[in-house]
Amino acid sequence: MKNRKGIILAGGSATRLYPLTLAISKQIMPVYDKPMIYYPLSVLMEAEIRQVLIISTPRDIVTFKELLGDGSKWGMEFTYKVQEKPAGLAEAFILGADFMGDDNVAMILGDNMFYGNNLSKILKHANEREDESTIFGYYVKDPRAYGVVEIDKQGNAVSIEEKPEKPKSHYAVPGLYFYTNDVKEIAKTIKPSERGELEITSINEEYMKRGKLKVEKLGRAMTWFDTGTHDALLETASFVQTIEKRQGMQICSPDEIAYRKGWITAEELSNIANKLIKTDYGKFLKDLAENKIGEE
Ligand code: DAU
Repeated sequence: MKNRKGIILAGGSATRLYPLTLAISKQIMPVYDKPMIYYPLSVLMEAEIRQVLIISTPRDIVTFKELLGDGSKWGMEFTYKVQEKPAGLAEAFILGADFMGDDNVAMILGDNMFYGNNLSKILKHANEREDESTIFGYYVKDPRAYGVVEIDKQGNAVSIEEKPEKPKSHYAVPGLYFYTNDVKEIAKTIKPSERGELEITSINEEYMKRGKLKVEKLGRAMTWFDTGTHDALLETASFVQTIEKRQGMQICSPDEIAYRKGWITAEELSNIANKLIKTDYGKFLKDLAENKIGEE
């Protein structure tokens, strides 16, 4: 199977979260017990992606390096790149062109969180599609704040619009995109939108024109949050807290995923856990390393 690399786009100015983000990055802020970026990172890991490019602002890139390092603690490889200005989501593929090389790519936004039973299966499916690109559709009551996609019975995109006033469907497009390698070239050809950004929707439109865009529906049992406002941030944190307390399991722990996938050993996991042992998170990892957690 063709290799696929990952990109996490974790820049932007997050003005909708002011004053929280006046001095720090949104994607570093807590979502209950973990930094926000752990959640999208976990999704890439679930998709078996081990080489990841993290893109952020000149101010914040240092903090991400400090938090995540070179990825080796999770058996991964991290590379970093600065985006000077928030010129749009599609710029990620211009900045990430060298990193991608000849490989396909999956990009996830640093403030998107996914959780649900079928997620691994859905990701695997998208990952295995080597010659077509995949986006996702998530049914929401009011999709006007998002990219909105109309889907035919074969799972092809029929129309796609960015933040339409009159949406043609209820399917919002979450911030997770599986693209073929030619996204590097497409990104170079698109023009900035009225709001002055290189829109991801323009890339999706191009794939749609070429008949190369598949849409996977995320069913109603899937949870998708974008944590870009004060309320969304708190709601997501409450959701994570509720599930974790009830089950005594972790949502989107890169430490756990790396271990379950065999990218790190029980001893390595135990060493990570020891440093965090004053927290329930650390205790969970310790139990996992010692084989005391039953469920997968
Ligand atoms: O969350 C899903 C939505 O994300 C999609 O449905 C839309 O189609 C897509 O355009 C995007 O819409 P947003 O309005 O949420 O995009 P926003 O400008 O808020 O940027 C999303 C994230 O990407 C945000 O956390 C900041 C980061 N970002 C944004 C831009 C424009 C960057 O790192 N660099 C950028 O240049």
